[in-house]
Parts: sequence; structure tokens; C-alpha cells
Amino acid sequence: MAFPQQVRLVEVGPRDGLQNEPDPIATETKLELIERLSAAGIRHIEAASFVSPKWVPQMADHHDVITGLKRRDGVTYSALTPNLKGLEAALACGVEEVAVFGAASESFSQKNINCSVNESLERFAPVLERARQANVRVRGYVSCVLGCPYEGEIAPAKVAEVAKALYDMGCYEVSLGDTIGTGTPLAAKRMIDAVAREIPIDKLAAHFHDTYGQALANLYAVLEQGVAVIDSSVAGLGGCPYAKGASGNAASEDVVYMLNGLGIDTGIDLNALAATGNWITHTISRPNRSKTSVALAAR
Ligand code: HMG
Ligand code: MG
Repeated sequence: MAFPQQVRLVEVGPRDGLQNEPDPIATETKLELIERLSAAGIRHIEAASFVSPKWVPQMADHHDVITGLKRRDGVTYSALTPNLKGLEAALACGVEEVAVFGAASESFSQKNINCSVNESLERFAPVLERARQANVRVRGYVSCVLGCPYEGEIAPAKVAEVAKALYDMGCYEVSLGDTIGTGTPLAAKRMIDAVAREIPIDKLAAHFHDTYGQALANLYAVLEQGVAVIDSSVAGLGGCPYAKGASGNAASEDVVYMLNGLGIDTGIDLNALAATGNWITHTISRPNRSKTSVALAAR
């Protein structure tokens, strides 16, 4: 299988990147981050999360983030919605796309959304139904596709089963999350092989965290299989509050640098993206985990 000619980047920095930050981040900072990302040419930004503020306090300003967006034509601004309550709140703010998030691990599902995998799928069905009525697209996530912080190894067949359930329910795309970044390229390929037997590969996205420095290598491996949607986070920010030790996603700047080198079109201005990574890490006083951002700033 050849590399895809084009890759769509889903920028998850404002959500996955910031959800785990210990100190409050001003809504204005989040809005400026989103604005800078869209100005750099990113066309899909996961902007907020309509989850319980008790579970994830950092996302409690979801309403103000979504209603405060300076929307640009051609940019999708999406949000996580774990249940109908979250979806109704998202619809009330005018969100045009949402995502439900399940897991291939029972223990992680319990820790993250307080229910079993089957219960989560039962909970998502009415979310998809209501979203369809409202003409809102739904993306699906499967977490722990290459390992679980509580259960260790996860069988590719289990990932495929949950991904298929989300796809059959009506998710237009399923994003496969290596939540704790323990995956390596061969394991990533085997997992994609298993899922792609159930779902067309052009409906899959790779969402790889970089805890062990493997995210780019894993992305390269699955690009070779034909995966053409990549979730990444500016400056490599982030982690999941319910997956101890998990660090940020593959850094968007590093992903774009690699894709440029492969001659794969993203439509993103790398210098503007790198400047955004340097700006946000400076603003929230965090290390910049993107080697590309740091290298470009040092030029
Ligand atoms: P629960 O406690 O089982 O929910 O939490 P409940 O239905 O029993 O309700 C309990 C309380 O929460 C009630 O309030 C509800 O109104 C409220 P109270 O009566 O006690 O005052 N509630 C809500 N409030 C706001 N928004 C809502 C909502 N739903 C209920 N949507 C729940 C279940 C799913 C809500 C909770 O477990 C939760 O919010 N979990 C979110 C965890 C999370 O956001 N994790 C990070 C995102 S996932 C991720 O990072 C992985 C990913 O990046 C992919 C990867 O890397 O693998 C996507
Ligand atoms: Mg994630």
C-alpha cells in the first residue's frame, strides 16, 4: 500500500492538550490558541469537551470556548460529548461536530467514563440518534488500542470489535487512540490490519500519544498502510487525566514536518504552526515537546 497523497490533521491540542493541565487556563488563551491554529491552516480543531466539570475541571468553560470562537470558513470545530447531557449542551452552543469516546479496555472505560464498554455503547446510541436529527456529525474514539494503563496488552480483535460497533452506529470516522503511548510500529500495523478488516481504512484516524517516543514511528507505519487522518497536538501538549503517566500526542509540528518530507500535502503553514507551539508553551509555562518547534525557533 502506498502513502496517501493527502493527510487530514485533526488538531486536538485545545482539548487533549489542555485537559490535563493542573493550573487553570484562561478561556481567552484557549480562544487565541484556536485562532492561531486555524490561521496556520488547520482545518479541524477539537476545541472543547462537554464532560462533567467534576471529572475534568480544565474543560469546564466549554460553553464560553465554543460561543467565543471566531469561526473561519472551512474549519470544523468539534467537541467531546460522552452522553446525551453533554450533547444537548454542545448543541445549545451551536457545535457542528461531536465525538463520543469509548475504549477497548474494560478497566479504562470504568475509570474514564464510569461504565463498562457495553454500557458506553448503549449510552452512545441515543447520542448518535439525537446528533443525526440535529444534522451534527459524530466521530468515534477507541482508547487503549495499543495498551491499557490497568490491563496491559489489548487484543487487536477487541479494538476492531469496539471500532466496528461505533462505525455501525453511525460514526463517520473512528479514531484509534494509543492513550498511553506504549505502542510500537509493528503492533500499530497489526492493530490497523485487524480494524481495517471491519472498517474501510479511509474511515480510520490515528491518535497516538508519545509517552515512549514512538508516536512518529507508529504514524509512519500506519501511513504506509493507507491511514490518512492523523490526530496531533500542537507542541505535543497533553495526556489523559484517567491514564496515569500518559504524555501528550504526537506534536503537530513534528507530524507536519515529517509529512512535508514525504511529499504529503496537509495545507498547513509549518512556520506559523511552530510559532503557535512556542507561543502556547510560553504562555502556559510548559515545555515544548515538539523538536520541530524548538529547532525552528532557534534558527
Ligand atoms: P457519572 O458520574 O457516571 O455521570 O460520570 P452521571 O450520569 O451519574 O451524573 C453524575 C453527575 O455528573 C450529575 O451531576 C450529572 O448531571 C453530571 P450532579 O447531579 O452530581 O450535580 N453530568 C454531567 N455534567 C456535565 N456534562 C456532562 C455530564 N454528564 C453527567 N456531559 C461522565 C459519567 C461520562 C459524565 C464522567 O465520567 C465524565 O465526565 N468523564 C469524562 C472523562 C474525560 O473527559 N476524559 C478525558 C477525555 S477521553 C481521552 O482523553 C482519550 C482520547 O484522547 C483518546 C485517547 O487518547 O485514547 C479521546
Ligand atoms: Mg488522547
